[in-house]
Amino acid sequence: MSISFNSVDRTLNLQTRNTTYQMQLTESGYLRHLYYGRRIPGACQARLITRMDAGFSPNPHHLGFQRSFSLDLQPQEYSTANIGDFRVPALIAATADGCYGDELRYVSHESRPGKYALEGLPCAHGGEEDCDTLSIVLKDEATNLTVELLYAVYEAEDVITRAARIVNNSEQVINLERASSMTLDLPYGDWQLIHFHGRHAMERQMERVDIMHGIQSVGSLRGASSHHHNPFVILCDRAAGEEQGDCVGIMPVYSGNHRTDIEKDQMDSVRVVTGINPDLFRWTLNPGESFTAPEVILSFTHQGLGQLSRNYHHFIRERIIRSTWNHKTRPVLLNNWEATYFNFDSDKILEIARQAKDMGVELLVLDDGWFGQRCDDNRALGDWYVNEEKLKGGLGKLIEGVNALGLRFGLWMEPEMVSEDSDLYRAHPDWALTVPGRLPAMGRNQLVLDMGRQEVVDYLYDIISGLLSKYHIEYVKWDMNRNISDIYSRVLPGERQGEAFHRYILGVYKLLDKLTTAFPEVLWEGCAGGGGRYDAGMMCYFPQIWLSDDTDALERLTIQHGSTFGYPVSTMGAHVSICPNHQTGRTVPLGTRAVVAMSGTFGYELDPAHLSDEEKEQVKVQIQRFKTWYDVIQNGDYYRLTAPGADRFMAWQYVSADKGEALLNVVVTHTMANMRGVHLRMAGLDPNANYRMEALVTEGSETILDMVEMKPRDGEDSYSGAELMYAGITLPQMGGDYPSVQIHFVKN
Ligand code: DGJ
Repeated sequence: MSISFNSVDRTLNLQTRNTTYQMQLTESGYLRHLYYGRRIPGACQARLITRMDAGFSPNPHHLGFQRSFSLDLQPQEYSTANIGDFRVPALIAATADGCYGDELRYVSHESRPGKYALEGLPCAHGGEEDCDTLSIVLKDEATNLTVELLYAVYEAEDVITRAARIVNNSEQVINLERASSMTLDLPYGDWQLIHFHGRHAMERQMERVDIMHGIQSVGSLRGASSHHHNPFVILCDRAAGEEQGDCVGIMPVYSGNHRTDIEKDQMDSVRVVTGINPDLFRWTLNPGESFTAPEVILSFTHQGLGQLSRNYHHFIRERIIRSTWNHKTRPVLLNNWEATYFNFDSDKILEIARQAKDMGVELLVLDDGWFGQRCDDNRALGDWYVNEEKLKGGLGKLIEGVNALGLRFGLWMEPEMVSEDSDLYRAHPDWALTVPGRLPAMGRNQLVLDMGRQEVVDYLYDIISGLLSKYHIEYVKWDMNRNISDIYSRVLPGERQGEAFHRYILGVYKLLDKLTTAFPEVLWEGCAGGGGRYDAGMMCYFPQIWLSDDTDALERLTIQHGSTFGYPVSTMGAHVSICPNHQTGRTVPLGTRAVVAMSGTFGYELDPAHLSDEEKEQVKVQIQRFKTWYDVIQNGDYYRLTAPGADRFMAWQYVSADKGEALLNVVVTHTMANMRGVHLRMAGLDPNANYRMEALVTEGSETILDMVEMKPRDGEDSYSGAELMYAGITLPQMGGDYPSVQIHFVKN
């Protein structure tokens, strides 16, 4: 069992393969945090926490003249408000008569093999062999409110998940004004914060900053986890790099309004509180009712950012994604969006499909525009019946045609939305989220359905399950193209309007859970105008998510780079599109576009008619290459070898679990005159093994300036892992814009 309780020093110890997490019950029953870091034997670390009388940090009344204990200075497991800890609270609760605050003291704890479940919320899974659960119950004597802190310890994965359940055991109404998932206090360390900000078509830009005194926050109030701040942060020590240094990852499994507060206090201790964004949130708990705060995935490593990422990649692949497609080879797809936008008919789609099939594509995805009067993006969302002017003979006929060519068929939908100009809106205007008496802000000229209403969820289930039952649809792209403003639910009383945002996302989860359970063989791809809801919550339903509406390969390098800190490439929808690129006007060689898209689920988003015969041949080869390397790319260990802007190239690498093969990828982002060859050190290989170059593919370089033969030494054809990692490798000099190289190494 990875969880133990020492009754002498009253410590609770959670042990994973390489980490230890320790808490302690104080004599007064407070639950304080002692340690999260590199694995140590279970000995009590209370010695680390000094007791002192700091001015203006109050002391609990029952301790009398003992002024050296203050909740304001003690590291907490779950911080609350108005009880003498002035740092960020995880919980703010108020009774009906307006008393704020909860002084939480220990009631009981229990541990058992297996994983806790969270009602209505997605979370990691695991059987009795995979993890252990610890539940600690704390109670506020004055109000009878209890908080159950949940921990699951995934020993092999170096992951601990946390969640919290708040129960109103009193006789009166209690209002939650903040109900975060967890507090993590790090009393010592020189931490920096890494977070992932962005915007539409430029998601997850990695930023590393010092933690200042005061509070820094990242979060979203957009009703979605958002393009703008991904729900994932890392705290790392100042010296941490890819291969060394202490790093703590904090990833809420949540797709709605989230917030992570990072506070550096008067003593330079750092507190992290994360979960549902407390702004625009208020939840009423009647006597006997409970509220569950979403799960958070924690991981620690002393081996740097690269290892932290690999912990998350593994965890998401093994414990978050449930889809039957998780470990199956996913089809190479062609999506018609950038090929046609709204301008298509069945003949055009079938022609695209025919040419796609010739190039080796396996799945044809029909994107936006196939339904209702959807001739542009101003209308018809909600009218999920086929537009027979475009698709003559209907959807069934088109699918038959696509299938007859030997391709699977996939369909785009945007179920959570409604256009004002739609039959659905005309029938149910009250289903849209709008504030009474105020004209709503429009986004892409559409409104958002109130997913907190059961009848809306039921209606959408009937529509979507009807389509999936009637037609041979093997893939669904689930889009969401605006953020939520004007939140007001017509089915909630005034005092419960603060629940509308969370109820919205609970409704989305309910619908997705029901649909993905009923149609497990469908490959579901998430999307929210690209990566606007690219989070661990959505990954419980969608094994892959369209990463960004920016398909420019050069821009994708930074978007994919940022995304790899928390998420595996098997979740990243990535396509080759036409050049000049539709978002940037840039031209990147077709081969390099494929190298970049291959570091994702790989597909195309173009009209094959715009490719020359030579380019079509190139595409065939790209698809074959992707399939040959599929396993090492999708299931291998990922290594970032460069950072955007740090050099004139970007490089990354995959290594199979047994270190038997590796794939090195390099894209030159800035070619210069008279520049020396790209030199880099590989990573993750077996230093004692020999690796031969099984394939070397250069793309997009018209002029290879110095084509030295890539050979280790005369008469030898393999390199030792040690020399590839420690001495490195120098690539031939390439000219032109954005050339790239892929080298596949196989152990002798
Ligand atoms: C946004 C998506 O990200 C695009 O790929 C495309 O599906 C459009 N929506 C369609 O409206």
